[in-house]
Amino acid sequence: MIIVVNFGGQFAHLIARRIRNLGVKSELVPPDISPKNLIKLSPQAVIFSGSPSSVYENNAPKISPQIYNLNLPILGICYGQQLIAHQLGGKVSSHDAKQFGKEILKIKKSSLFSGLSSPQTVWFSHGDQVDKLSPGFETIASTTNAKIAAMQNSAKNIYGIQFHAEVVHTPNGQKILENFLFKIAKAKKDWKLDFVKENLIKNLKKEISNQKVLMAISGGVDSLVAASILTEAIGKNLLLVFIDTGLLRKYDIPDLKATVKTQKFNNLKIVDAQERFLSALKGITDPEKKRQVIARIYFEVLTEEAKKLGNLNFLAQGTIYPDRIESGKPSKHADKIKSHHNVTLPQGLKLKIIEPLAEFYKDEVRKIGKLLNIPSGFLDRHPFPGPGLAIRILGEVTEERLKILREADEIFISELKRYEQGAYNKEVSLRSTSLRSSRVGLGAGLKVGQAFAALFPVKSVGVMGDSRTYSYIISLRAVDTVDFMTADWSKLPNELLEKVSTRIVNEVRGVNRVVYDITQKPPATIEYE
Ligand code: XMP
Repeated sequence: MIIVVNFGGQFAHLIARRIRNLGVKSELVPPDISPKNLIKLSPQAVIFSGSPSSVYENNAPKISPQIYNLNLPILGICYGQQLIAHQLGGKVSSHDAKQFGKEILKIKKSSLFSGLSSPQTVWFSHGDQVDKLSPGFETIASTTNAKIAAMQNSAKNIYGIQFHAEVVHTPNGQKILENFLFKIAKAKKDWKLDFVKENLIKNLKKEISNQKVLMAISGGVDSLVAASILTEAIGKNLLLVFIDTGLLRKYDIPDLKATVKTQKFNNLKIVDAQERFLSALKGITDPEKKRQVIARIYFEVLTEEAKKLGNLNFLAQGTIYPDRIESGKPSKHADKIKSHHNVTLPQGLKLKIIEPLAEFYKDEVRKIGKLLNIPSGFLDRHPFPGPGLAIRILGEVTEERLKILREADEIFISELKRYEQGAYNKEVSLRSTSLRSSRVGLGAGLKVGQAFAALFPVKSVGVMGDSRTYSYIISLRAVDTVDFMTADWSKLPNELLEKVSTRIVNEVRGVNRVVYDITQKPPATIEYE
């Protein structure tokens, strides 16, 4: 196990994912972890992540200096290197010649650079640098502007690099991480997903034994994978409920039914609560009120279903690692997911919580899903928010508006999937933008991460045939994103947009105008409400 101390840098999660991809278990911890609690995790090494802070600022996140005396190999990345220098008697300062982006790095002989020749291309993203080494350290790499671009104290197994080895823009970054893991920390490759999956099933069997588990599936990837793994572990003792809120897309229920067949779920009840949600939403236009009403009704229905079933012991949830991890700066995405999926129990139910996927990242969840034979078409689905179409119909949600939006959305998504063998989950953008180049290095490649239609409840004038029309506006939103915290609008080809617009106006009654949303996040969010 390798511990990554998360100082709030944008790549902290990426470091942990890279390590896991190299076959070694890795977890994130906050900087204020005590040395005692760190040792409890039995780490083989510790990596310090980057941070937007400067070590010499008052409120900069720090780690207990005792960590340096635990005899654990340490690798500091960017801010991590600066922190090591700062805490062990070196000096860090801000420089006028800032380094952002690609740099040429001259390297010296070091276990960290084993197998690499000099020079190397690496990726920098920080204005500060180490000016003076701490006692016992030596410089092992430099660039024109950064004399101490990497450092080591090989006797104590403490290393620092000013650049980001974890991003794809450091071509041999993976080799550097491998050297640290396997040559310096002597880690073993024992994090393999099929092995992890088998272990998980074994542990769930043991923990649950013959007791009954209730789980509400949302139609999304996480809850479906969690339900599939529980089915393998406990079969008939898993009782699944799917609440049809009436706020779903045209293809959600048919897709769910098809997947249920492939996954051989024994007990799935689809609860039709459409009318209940719609009447509760009547007259409500405030986005936050809509969300609250939907969450309230959802848990009411779930509680009723649980009571009908009786004799339950556990409530299973599809929570994944980024949803629950405490970081210096929790993402808005995680916040929202928490408020919807509501990690607390529905009131009145005394059930133990079970979260089979709480250890995994999204890409790992997808891989586990693949191992469980979930069709890839389902695993690659874009995220769909809990409140569903209610937050894509601006203003009041009505049956008429839902019907219009469902049809328009289906046209958009099916055309995306059809375009040049599928633009739904692929990079289709024709040009790069300045925003994109400032976000390089996230590693997973940018692609249409989410696409949908939204309905504006205002009417505009149009002409169809010889008649005047006065109908709603549909807005198409498609974003390139990897983390959903920042997003760029997808530069979809004009011919695709034109086809979608023509089809919507021709085929969907009640719409006479289609617009394409060209706002980035920030400042706009991905969803409209
Ligand atoms: P925003 O709109 O904040 O959305 O840019 C970021 C991502 O989160 C999804 N989202 C939600 N997911 N429950 C969810 O499960 C919610 O209440 C919720 N609100 C937003 C959104 O679809 C996007 O992927």
